Amino acid sequence: MRISLADAATLLLTSEVVAVPTETVYGLAACLNDFTAIQKIYTLKSRPPQNPLIIHVASSQQIHEYVEELPDSFEALAAAFWPGPLTLVLPVKSNKVLNIVTAGLKTAAFRVPRHSLTRKLLAMTGPLVMPSANLSGKPSSTSAEHVEKDFTLDFPVLDGGPSEEGLESTILIWDSKKWVIGRLGALDADCFLPVIGYIPGLTKKHNDLDVNELKETPTCPGQMFRHYAPKARLIFFKQDLLTTNPCQVIVGFDDKSYSREFKIYSLGLLKNPKVAAERLYAVLRQLDQDEVKEAFVDMDFPANGLWITIRERLEKAASS
Ligand code: TXA
Ligand code: MG
Repeated sequence: MRISLADAATLLLTSEVVAVPTETVYGLAACLNDFTAIQKIYTLKSRPPQNPLIIHVASSQQIHEYVEELPDSFEALAAAFWPGPLTLVLPVKSNKVLNIVTAGLKTAAFRVPRHSLTRKLLAMTGPLVMPSANLSGKPSSTSAEHVEKDFTLDFPVLDGGPSEEGLESTILIWDSKKWVIGRLGALDADCFLPVIGYIPGLTKKHNDLDVNELKETPTCPGQMFRHYAPKARLIFFKQDLLTTNPCQVIVGFDDKSYSREFKIYSLGLLKNPKVAAERLYAVLRQLDQDEVKEAFVDMDFPANGLWITIRERLEKAASS
């Protein structure tokens, strides 16, 4: 059910959950201090309780209230990337943020979104928690239609058009006096160099950590879980297609030539990673809509910039 901005604010202020557009992906929003509404989010998404939520605020000033001590580079990052697709994980003062938001961690994740409707809404409601508006494990939603597919046509959605970025925010975690990337997203790692003086490293993958390290290593708990996956089995290829395979579908690019026997789900042109990012989840969702059982995915694309995030999302989407 498409709702107005005023109705979205009213629902949120009366403990309801509403789907909200952002420039990255759509979010399922609840007010930051509303335990009941936040519980509804976990239930609606079937989200594991160990997976904390991002707090969305209207301005970086609002973060001061929650955070123990801000790193020197905080202001530079905020000035360079907010409002926009950056999330910062910082140590929070005790008892300032509900445990259901942080999943019991001593840190919380913060983001100042850029979408004009989200910003207007935040001005009316105050801080909102928002995980991506999809069933846990499925591709994120980049349009109001995607949200309705996952949560039915009756679900209240503030329609802000297709998401501009199409990929989730990049998450930086402040740990031992440096930033590390907890999740790659709409910002690539290189863009931080001019702002903080180094390219933040990636956190270790959960499966590379032993049990003792797991507690001490900064990670995004969400990375442990299955993600972005359509029902279709995704089969990666680079140059040579296994033509003996019965698969009829390719996720690929307009400027490549594939044999005519295949139906192509296009990520656009190889020279344009922004478009590939914007289309990625819509394409994965379309496979489900068309009841595709198996799809070849053309992985022969560059290994820099946004392509690194796109590759990571496809690898996650294909893993079982
Ligand atoms: O672009 C986005 O970030 C979107 C839009 C709606 O803002 N939101 C989003 O939320 O992607 P979600 O819940 O799908 O992913 C949030 C990620 C999870 O991997 C979670 O584990 C991580 O953020 N996270 C949240 N709080 C954290 C914390 N205190 N420490 C480490 N990771 C945290
Ligand atoms: Mg998500």
